[in-house]
Amino acid sequence: MRRALMSLCRLFLPDAGLRRYANALCVVVATNLLTALVFYQHGGGERTTRNWVGPQPYSSSRNCTQLYNLNRPDYSFLYRASSSPPSPSLPAVFVITPTHTCTTQKVDLTSLCQTLSLVPKLTWIVVEDSRTKTKLVSHLLSKCMVESVHLSVATSTKYKSSLPWPLYRMFGTVRGVEQRNAGLRWLRENYHPKNSSGVVYFIDDDNKIDVRLFSEIRKTKEVSVFNVGFAGGVYYEGPVCGEDGRVREWHSPSAEWSIWASSRKIPIDMAGFAVNLHLILARPEVLIGRDVRGADSRVGQLETDLLEHFTTRERLECRGSNSEVLVWHTKTADPNLKHEFHYPSDRASVAV
Ligand code: UGA
Ligand code: MN
Repeated sequence: MRRALMSLCRLFLPDAGLRRYANALCVVVATNLLTALVFYQHGGGERTTRNWVGPQPYSSSRNCTQLYNLNRPDYSFLYRASSSPPSPSLPAVFVITPTHTCTTQKVDLTSLCQTLSLVPKLTWIVVEDSRTKTKLVSHLLSKCMVESVHLSVATSTKYKSSLPWPLYRMFGTVRGVEQRNAGLRWLRENYHPKNSSGVVYFIDDDNKIDVRLFSEIRKTKEVSVFNVGFAGGVYYEGPVCGEDGRVREWHSPSAEWSIWASSRKIPIDMAGFAVNLHLILARPEVLIGRDVRGADSRVGQLETDLLEHFTTRERLECRGSNSEVLVWHTKTADPNLKHEFHYPSDRASVAV
């Protein structure tokens, strides 16, 4: 092999003196030439028909399509993968998201928009915590490929606290309540219980969802519950379900005891349940922020207080699987902007 390479070298470097000093370099060049030749023969020439610009697959003999289709689950329910429009009998999904002006609002809403844009028959009700609709959110929704409803309602003084975090949390301030209720009112004003079918789901603007969740929650007959990652002070919070599809107990480090607000009857995060639209429409007096006795909800009790109006623990329907998480209660960190004040003009020209 080495001899063959040396003969190849002689072709390129006929001068014996040069050859002596450049032996090593020459072997490297010749090896690269041979590799290129082998790659071409094994389908490297495919580059003329496939304009592949991503990183090279780990084996050059495998073509890209094969590599990325390996064990791909059935995503035919998504918009892009499906060849036919969604069936008229597919229940609609209404997603209600409260949002407020903050440094990371645009990135959070962009991420959520792009996830939701993959899901057919979905209406996104975005409710700003603001007296009027902001340009940022209006513009973002106008570019987002999701059917959306844009509302705004400013949080009233009742839910405001002048205390700094975490003190205001300790003294009972809940967030996004009036915004979610504005979403519920919009549904009640625009749909009639007799001829509307669908499922209502609440998600905060900074959470993350796997699109497969929507196939699960569409099956909700009354109220469904499922796992939520990074909620309740543990890796995930959610139901432990039996084969009959009913809740046996709640996942937590010790069963039947949830680490966060252990007194909750239905210990679940806001992103961990879905309610059938007919229940929302049939009980127009039910709003978030009040328990069944009419008392104001405390921090951590919003979800259980709402669900107790509609259901009991025994009636809850399990969706998803015990061993999988399809939605995460994440929080976007505030970016470090300590040098920003040096460049005030940049911010004015770039919408971040
Ligand atoms: C947790 C729960 O996930 C929320 O569903 C619940 O409303 C909240 O606690 C609470 O008990 O107050 P967390 O991540 O701690 O949420 O709170 P944020 O994400 O800051 O706020 C929840 C939602 O309300 C977000 O969509 C956020 O944009 C919105 N929000 C927040 C407002 O509309 N106005 C605000 O002043 C702050
Ligand atoms: Mn949040």
